[in-house]
Amino acid sequence: MKLALFASGTGSNARSLVRAAREQRLEAEFVLIVCDRPRAPVLAFAEEEGIPVFAFSPKEYENKAAFETEIVKELYAKGVERIVLAGYMRLIGDTLLTEYGGRMINVHPSLLPAFPGKDAIRQAWDAGVKVTGVTVHYVDEGMDTGSIIAQEPLYVKETDSFETLTAGIQAVEHRLYPEIVQQWIARPLKTVQTNTEGANHS
Ligand code: GAR
Repeated sequence: MKLALFASGTGSNARSLVRAAREQRLEAEFVLIVCDRPRAPVLAFAEEEGIPVFAFSPKEYENKAAFETEIVKELYAKGVERIVLAGYMRLIGDTLLTEYGGRMINVHPSLLPAFPGKDAIRQAWDAGVKVTGVTVHYVDEGMDTGSIIAQEPLYVKETDSFETLTAGIQAVEHRLYPEIVQQWIARPLKTVQTNTEGANHS
């Protein structure tokens, strides 16, 4: 399946996904990386891997619809079927949701709905929680609010520092996200995506 990766920063999740595809743990071809920060480290990785890039500065566009229209053109030109967000730190707007709603997932470094948004690991650390973790969820118009596909908890140890907790969360993300993306692409699309879909109420 042809996937696009959206990322804004370091790209460690992008690396783990591309590695999984190379090792055939993930039956996907990453045909485009979309990045909203033209100097983000993930772009150097894309170049190393020979993955085409659409990098843009949002401030050079009139509004979100204008840059998302360009993104959609690139996605269609590359035949992208579904989208994987990996540290794309920007809300998805109507233009992308109209074209790819229900076909986009995201990874987030907390047990949502706790600690959405930026710096989730720091938020959890500062709150003093004893358990946090990683969530994979569908993308909707909200900030990390789409219906949840998978979660994995991580206990905060007495001996943890913010740095060791961060490393632990990243290790979970790098293992969990490729597994869940593989399960997701192996399933047919659901026709209607609601906020409760996929929830386990049993
Ligand atoms: C990851 O921890 C990802 O879960 C988080 O950004 C980081 C990107 O790291 N995403 C969010 O917080 C989304 N709200 P990476 O660039 O090294 O993959």
